[in-house]
Amino acid sequence: MSISNTSLDEIKSRIDIEDVISDFVSLKRKGQNLWACCPFHDEKTPSFSVSPAKGIYKCFGCGKAGDAIEFIKEIEGLNYIEAMRYLAKKYGITLEEEETPELLAQQSLRESLFIVLGFARDYFHRLLLKETEGRSIGLSYFKERGYNEQVIKDFELGYSLDRWDGLLNEARENGFDIDTVEKAGLIIRKDGKTYDRFRGRVIFPIHNITGKVIAFGARTLKADKGAKYINSPETEVYQKSKVLYGLHQARHAIRQQDNCYLVEGYTDVISLHLSGVANVVASSGTSLTDQQINLIRRYTNNITVLFDGDAAGIKASLRGIDMILASGAHVRVVEFPQGEDPDSYSRKLGTDQFKSFLDSKHTDFITYKTQLFLSEASDDPIKRVETIKEVVRSIGKIPDALQRAVYIKQSSGQLEVDESLLIRELNKVQLQSSGGYQPPQNTVADILPEPKPRTAELPDTIARQERESIRLLLNYGDHVLEDGTRLHHYFFDELQEVVFKNDIYREILGLLKTELDDDGAVDTGRLLDKVSGKVKTEMIDLLSEQYEISNLWMDRFSIHVPTEKEILSEVVFSNLLRLKYRVVKQLIAENREELKMAGPEQQQQLLKVDVELKNSRNELARQLGIIVSD
Ligand code: CTP
Ligand code: MN
Repeated sequence: MSISNTSLDEIKSRIDIEDVISDFVSLKRKGQNLWACCPFHDEKTPSFSVSPAKGIYKCFGCGKAGDAIEFIKEIEGLNYIEAMRYLAKKYGITLEEEETPELLAQQSLRESLFIVLGFARDYFHRLLLKETEGRSIGLSYFKERGYNEQVIKDFELGYSLDRWDGLLNEARENGFDIDTVEKAGLIIRKDGKTYDRFRGRVIFPIHNITGKVIAFGARTLKADKGAKYINSPETEVYQKSKVLYGLHQARHAIRQQDNCYLVEGYTDVISLHLSGVANVVASSGTSLTDQQINLIRRYTNNITVLFDGDAAGIKASLRGIDMILASGAHVRVVEFPQGEDPDSYSRKLGTDQFKSFLDSKHTDFITYKTQLFLSEASDDPIKRVETIKEVVRSIGKIPDALQRAVYIKQSSGQLEVDESLLIRELNKVQLQSSGGYQPPQNTVADILPEPKPRTAELPDTIARQERESIRLLLNYGDHVLEDGTRLHHYFFDELQEVVFKNDIYREILGLLKTELDDDGAVDTGRLLDKVSGKVKTEMIDLLSEQYEISNLWMDRFSIHVPTEKEILSEVVFSNLLRLKYRVVKQLIAENREELKMAGPEQQQQLLKVDVELKNSRNELARQLGIIVSD
């Protein structure tokens, strides 16, 4: 259900980021900002900072950043609306829900489905624990598998009677609308008959993150009859590509351990819990999807895939793992001995041994994949080439340039191939996958280690100056410069004819202009609210860049180093000079290109422009103290 804009605005106006974040970590004031150990990754010294003035947080260790709403989304694993509900509750705001007829109808269908599904869960669970058939068949089966009371309760396991109308009758007796029961996927209507979907099976309820039952998986107990597992169909509340089995039970452990084990199915998840490993989920019934990966990444950036010890299965899974790499997560794998899966092997080893098996046997995915292909290739040159291509393909999926560089170095050793060759191959792969278009990341320089990973995306010198302009505008837009003008007035006057080349900075500049035209001041909180994605990340980065060196020097050595604020006029002036200098240089280059192709009458004109441009360039260079040679 959506929340009215009035309510959303009210919540936003009440948000106090310090107050919101303090519910989760204890913040200590140091200078302008508040600091704590980051709740999103494991650390011993605080690199998580909160700026109450700007309404944002940023961790300088793991890079997580955002506003108060983003923080709640991240830490509680909620979507936007859910986070707003959380905040509304915190501040005692009653929400006005928007009530369009379609929304209401859709909403009430979802609500009814949740109710029916919850009812079915209770019914199956009761049969398993209390009724004769359930106990003698279902419960004894679970006991045989080593399931204890705790996991049966935690996973709300159940049993469905071996008849056509067990649930159907129970639902009728309790006054449920049979249409709704069908829409919940619990009964089937075919050829004028209506009957239970799940019959004579043990039941694994599937939960959403908040713990509501949204579907069921069911395992047969008869060796020869029908499919081993059947699942609910997709419904209004169940889209299997967006669900991970066990995530509800695992989410706290995943955050605590900062790692998530990924297994195949229900029985693996439960067996790992029995072995004391709670940070585990399964992508039951589908191959892994991007949505599922993103679900995990709400809680951790580390994913450990547990492979059954069967070569064909492993090879089939490799493509799925490339998707995880592409999401930016760190991937490790543990391979199980031939014929074993996590379920069987954990039972074989017992809790302690199994845990140390997981701890000692995990391998970084790229290393693992390289070994796997190498061992198959042995001395066959064609297979070795294939191996190189495969490994490089995976490395190419990794979004972080620095990580790619490290992996290239490492696999060059493993594969006994020159690094430069791998880099060439990598560039080829990335060119192909981007369909000919060449984004900046495809350059060789890009995969070499960069001096400052946090500001990794500085494509060229113009963009660097554009970035600096935006940073100054965002952080000091309202400040009064030495000559009495406000910084943003000065900037926009000076920049009138300049069009920013970088898309992101151009967009932010446009937003800032509108904001200033409307209000004469910049409310960064409201601005952050209007943007999303890359623009938002970049803005937060720019807002949180640290210039606290002067405090440090003051504290330690009683030396006064002027802060940026104190020398703002100078900083702004030199940024504008540099920006203009770069722009003029580019114009000169463009003009000269044109000159090469120009006809005789155009040439005259272009040469004049060249002289003018050179004059401005020289003047700018003089002011900057740069010596130019032509
Ligand atoms: N699975 C499935 N559909 C199948 C087979 C398996 O969804 N037809 C999933 C289930 O989630 C199951 C997991 O894969 O928990 C492991 O498969 P398997 O070992 O075949 O199932 P078990 O119930 O563990 O059977 P067994 O006792 O024979 O090991
Ligand atoms: Mn099994």
